Amino acid sequence: MRIDILTAFPDLVRGPLAYSIIRRARERGLVDIRVHDLRDYTTDRHRQIDDYPYGGGGGMVLKPEPIFRCIEAIQEEAAREGRKIDEVIYLTPDGQVFNQELANRLSLCQHLVLLAGHYKGVDQRVRDALVTMELSIGDYVLSGGELPALVVVDAVVRLIPGVLGDAESALTDSFQDGLLDAPVYTRPAVFRSMAVPEVLRSGDHKRIAAWREEQRLLKTRQRRPDLLEKLEPSTTHDE
Ligand code: ADE
Repeated sequence: MRIDILTAFPDLVRGPLAYSIIRRARERGLVDIRVHDLRDYTTDRHRQIDDYPYGGGGGMVLKPEPIFRCIEAIQEEAAREGRKIDEVIYLTPDGQVFNQELANRLSLCQHLVLLAGHYKGVDQRVRDALVTMELSIGDYVLSGGELPALVVVDAVVRLIPGVLGDAESALTDSFQDGLLDAPVYTRPAVFRSMAVPEVLRSGDHKRIAAWREEQRLLKTRQRRPDLLEKLEPSTTHDE
């Protein structure tokens, strides 16, 4: 998969992409992530990427020209290489709320372009002419789209086939089947008088699986009853 990220703060984005699972996926050639500094696509001496909003009001707006130039360069390269850009995604608090189902869908794509807004956002003409999907990572306002872009990249990259090993398989993640995860423990078996549940040390795999399923249902019912309502009735019939 190819991912291009457009930002006014490239270092903020590059840092986290150099660690852990994303780093390994990049090193193994499973994902090719390019971070573009919008200032590199300006033509003026001051490398200006933002300007005052028409009609007044506070804050600055990202200018359309550098964004159009950057995305058009990415489109031209993709066309030369015979690649189709699946989505141009703008990260914004007024977008569709990102979730696991969207992550699954995006993980099947060949090429994603992510645009991180900043200040008061981007000129509306960018959204009208270039953007194909607008995503929010939740109902709170961040200073920019950089962290949301990283959230989307992380959630998507770990789902690319081959990125996770069998042991860490995404299929057992919270949310992947609509339930939260069961508690997990490691050694020591007793720590400061707190013991690991006996069933997990029993070696009885059927009992362990049943216990985990029960714990997942209990936790989901307690913390996220809204998730249970979305599931098939058969999944929640544990009585
Ligand atoms: N930019 C600022 N806040 C955001 C959010 N919650 N989601 C996506 N992009 C954002």
